[in-house]
Amino acid sequence: MSKFYITTPIYYVNDKPHLGHAYTTVAADVLARYHRMIGDKVFFLTGTDEHGLKIRKSAEKAGKTPQEWCDENSAKFELVWDSLNISYDNFIRTTNPSHIEVVKRAIKELVEKNLIYRGKYEGLYCVDCEQYYSPKELINGLCPIHRKKPVKLVEDCYFFKLSAFQKILLKLIDDKGLIIEPEERKNEVLGFLKSEKLEDIAITRERVRWGIPFPENESQTIYVWIEALLNYLTGIGWQGDPKELPEFWPPDIQLMAKDILRFHAVVWPAMLLALEIPLPKKIFAHGFFTFAGQKMSKSLGNIIDPVEIANLFSSDGLRYLLLASVPFGQDGDISRGKFYDRYNSDLANGLGNLVSRVLKLAKNKKITVYRDKNFQEKVKVIWSNYQKALEELAFEKAISEIQSFISFVNQFIDEKEPWKLTKTDINEFNNVIYTLLESLRHLAWLIYPFMPETSNKIFSALGIDKDEKTKEFTEAKKFGEVKFEKISQCSPLFPRL
Ligand code: MSP
Repeated sequence: MSKFYITTPIYYVNDKPHLGHAYTTVAADVLARYHRMIGDKVFFLTGTDEHGLKIRKSAEKAGKTPQEWCDENSAKFELVWDSLNISYDNFIRTTNPSHIEVVKRAIKELVEKNLIYRGKYEGLYCVDCEQYYSPKELINGLCPIHRKKPVKLVEDCYFFKLSAFQKILLKLIDDKGLIIEPEERKNEVLGFLKSEKLEDIAITRERVRWGIPFPENESQTIYVWIEALLNYLTGIGWQGDPKELPEFWPPDIQLMAKDILRFHAVVWPAMLLALEIPLPKKIFAHGFFTFAGQKMSKSLGNIIDPVEIANLFSSDGLRYLLLASVPFGQDGDISRGKFYDRYNSDLANGLGNLVSRVLKLAKNKKITVYRDKNFQEKVKVIWSNYQKALEELAFEKAISEIQSFISFVNQFIDEKEPWKLTKTDINEFNNVIYTLLESLRHLAWLIYPFMPETSNKIFSALGIDKDEKTKEFTEAKKFGEVKFEKISQCSPLFPRL
C-alpha cells in the first residue's frame, strides 16, 4: 500500500467560496478518491487562510472581531465542500492555535540557522494584495491585480535569505528533484530563476495587526504567505521539529492554479530546504478559467457560487462538468450553456440512460455469470488508459475513456437487441444481460472518483454492498467474476434538463 498526500491551496477566508475554488478542490478530491479506490493510504488537506490586514478590515466593517469573521467565513467553505462531497481528511485553519504555535517554532528554527535577519524594507505596497510590488511589476504605476496606486512604505522588518537558494532551486527543478507540471509552467519558473536575481524576502510586517506574532519581536507579525505555506506541514500534525516529520510527509501532489505557482515553486521549497525538510514530490499548477468569457471577480459582480450550479446539475453533475470541460492544466472558458449541453449529452442521454436501460432489461431476471471475451479485453484497455490519464492528472482523458465505454456498451445493446432474445435465445439473453450488468459495475467504479453519489446508486441497484465494493481493486477490475443476485431499479440518475 502506498501513501498519497494531496493538498489544495488554503483559500482566503475573506472571499466567498466560488467556482474557481471549487475547481481545484474537486480536482483534488477526484485524485484523493481515486487513490483510495486503488488501495492507497490517502491524506487530503484543504482549509482556509485567515490572517492579514484585509481580513481585519473586513471584520471591522462587518462589526465583528477578526476571529468571528474568520469563523463564519471558514464555515462557509466547509459547508460548500460538504455539499460537493469533498472528502478531505483535515480542514486546516491558520487561526488554529496549534498552527500558530508550530509556525512560531519553525520561524525560530530559521532564526537559529541564521537564515532570518533584521533589516529595513522600503517599497510599493498594495494594501489589497498585502504585497509589495517592484516598479517593474506595476502596470502604469498601478497594482496589476487591483489597478490601484500602491503606497510607498518603509518598515523595520525581518528578512528570509531566499537569495541563498537560487542555485539549488534551479538545479533541483532542472534535475526533477522538484517536479513542476505542466511543462510550460515549469519552464516559466526556470525562466524566472535563470533571468532574475532572487531577492531576500521580507517575512514580517509591522503594520499588519491580524497575524501570527514574530517570535523574536512581537511588535511584528509574520507575513501571511510565509505562515500560510506552513499549513501543509501543520495540517498533517507536524509539531515543528524538522527531524520528526508526520507519516504523510512529503506531499505527493500540491495542487493550485498558476496564479500562486511562484510562491509554491520558489518560496515554499526554499523554506523547506532551509528547514532541511524533504520537498514535495510534485507541484501541479492548473489553468484559470473564465465564466462565459469573463474573468470572475468581485468588482465585476460575477462570482459564481458553486452550490447554485450544483443545484442545477447535482453535485455529481457539477463535479463532472468542471473536469470534463477544460483540459486540466490549460486555461479555458465554462458557461451555463456549455454545462447544459454537456450534462444532457454525457450524463442524461449517456450514462443515466444506459443505466436505466440495463436495469429495466434485467428486472426480475435470474442472471448467471458469463465471461464475454470482447468485454474482458475492452475493460482492460479502458482501465489502463483511465489509470494512466489520472496518474497524469488528465481528468478529461479519463472522462473520455468513460464516455467511450458507454458508447461501446450502447452499441452492444443495439447490436444484440436483447429485448428480442427473451423469445428466441434465452441463453444468449442471459449472457448479454450479465455482460451489461457487469459493464454497469465497471462504470460505477470508473465514475466513482468523479461522481461518488451516482456511483453508490449504481452499486446499490446492482445489489453490491460496501464490503464487496472495497475488496481488492485488482479483483474488482476483472470482468465476469461477480454474481448479481438482487437487481433493483433506481430513479433517473440525471433527469434531462
Ligand atoms: N490564500 C492563498 C493561498 C495560500 S496557499 C498556502 C490564495 N487563496 S485564494 O483564495 O486566492 O485561492 C487561489 C486559488 O483558488 C487558485 O490557486 C486556484 O486554486 C483557485 N482559483 C481561484 N480562481 C480560479 C479560477 N478562476 N480558475 C481556476 N482556479 C481558480 O491564493
